[in-house]
Amino acid sequence: MPDTAIVQTTPLEPCLDERKLAAALSGSHLIGGHLVPSVSGKTFPVVNPATGQQVAVAAEGDAADVDAAVADSARAQKEWARMPSRKRGALVAQCAGLIRTHVEEIARLIALETGKALRTESRVEANTVADVLEFFGGLGSEIKGESVPFAPNVLSVTVREPLGVVGAIIPWNVPLLLMSLKIAPALVAGNTVVVKSAEEAPLAVLRICELMNRILPPGCFNMLSGFGPECGAPLVTHPAVRKVTFTGSVPVGRIVAKAAAEKLIPVTLELGGKSPMIVFADCDFEKTVAGALTSMRFTRQGQSCTAASRIYVERPIFDRFVAAMAERVDAMVMGDPLDEATDIGTIISDDQMDRVKGFIAEGMATPGATGRACSAMPSAPELASGKFIQPHIFTNLPPDSRLVREEIFGPVTCIFPFDEAEAVLNAANDSEYGLAASVWTNNLKIGLEFAHRLEAGLVQINQNLVVQANLSYGGVKSSGLGKEASLESMLEHFTHKKTIMMNYA
Ligand code: NAI
Ligand code: MG
Repeated sequence: MPDTAIVQTTPLEPCLDERKLAAALSGSHLIGGHLVPSVSGKTFPVVNPATGQQVAVAAEGDAADVDAAVADSARAQKEWARMPSRKRGALVAQCAGLIRTHVEEIARLIALETGKALRTESRVEANTVADVLEFFGGLGSEIKGESVPFAPNVLSVTVREPLGVVGAIIPWNVPLLLMSLKIAPALVAGNTVVVKSAEEAPLAVLRICELMNRILPPGCFNMLSGFGPECGAPLVTHPAVRKVTFTGSVPVGRIVAKAAAEKLIPVTLELGGKSPMIVFADCDFEKTVAGALTSMRFTRQGQSCTAASRIYVERPIFDRFVAAMAERVDAMVMGDPLDEATDIGTIISDDQMDRVKGFIAEGMATPGATGRACSAMPSAPELASGKFIQPHIFTNLPPDSRLVREEIFGPVTCIFPFDEAEAVLNAANDSEYGLAASVWTNNLKIGLEFAHRLEAGLVQINQNLVVQANLSYGGVKSSGLGKEASLESMLEHFTHKKTIMMNYA
């Protein structure tokens, strides 16, 4: 679609001045191909968590903005659904190409607003968005049904049809990736989407939406910023929204599911985790220690639903493992997220700082428990009011401690020794959550046995990677409902199967 569809207040070319770009994106939703302010005119500040400075304002959406965005998406959906699915896929894949040319600016913007380090996190995330769009963009031809033998002279077939307008609510921890896992399959399947960004991270997702709107017809992908109860809730309850997909906390997931149940619409939920990592003494020691750091997502300040926040290590190597892990975390550099030397950036917000610090204080005050603070706080004066928290490794916590049972969503992990396989399997499964797990051993019989018996949507042996396109991803128990990231998840969650029968007797 022509660039002129956008009221062009932002640079067309990639802009490596993240502050300038943040200012240009200030105060807008994106509806019908246009950057527009809130109906109420209200805005809220966007803060760089590394310095505490305001870098932009975001439009503060409410029910009136939801109405405008959903009405526009409903209008666009009729045309979009009529376009051949392969053509829709081709447009989504074309968006991937445009995003690739803007990867660096998107990475800088996400580092600016979330405090995630550019080298270790933000750049990786920006590239993954393009990968996800490319993957789903190639699946247009797969929006197909089957023929079903029924009776002579009757042709029975199923066809896959889109659901309509999809409401997508996303969090701040990996906003671009988690958004792409929703919009790409929804669009390719013929739905249109209204995304509500997280209040802590509205800018980079808006830039992606704006770039994609240069290629997609207006209204296919609209975006609102705003707070949960004021802007997210009316999106879920809006009568024209026919499907909701949500990633965030368990309590809000329950609110969203209840509202969807009231309307009898399908809902996909990707919620929290308390993911166990189980380390046997016969593991490849160095590789596993390094794996513990990536599993715990220390470079994302532990702000990950799959963070290995419970690590169980077989007793013969327990002390050596804890010491080696602490030593490696000590060597990680905490600092300015935009500095290439930085491994670990900041916590997202004051609320999350208070929450994580509360857990750490509770762990420190637990009789018998030991908490090691690793890595050095940054010393640069301009970062003095930055939201930095040292990674913490706790040992000797009682199994009923809140640190062991609840999702902390910060750089805090708890390590336990174990003696016996059956006991550690029970301990790992003794959780409200069931998102991800990993097992580290050279005994593949044990590894596979655990893979089958661990209660989780994703189990990895001798690695612990983040979500990958083409592999179904999603939790069991309180970790969520439904899967994302795969062909099957696109068909199952963003289409319905219509049966058509023709009697030609
Ligand atoms: P949250 O669940 O409150 O926010 C996630 C999204 O839901 C945001 O866009 C928010 O505006 C929206 N939202 C909030 N209330 C809503 C409502 N009533 N109706 C519709 N949408 C609503 O998560 P928050 O407060 O950012 O983080 C709190 C905790 O949640 C974290 O400490 C972490 O444990 C967990 N969390 C888990 C995530 C995951 O990836 N599974 C992501 C973010 C948070
Ligand atoms: Mg919240």
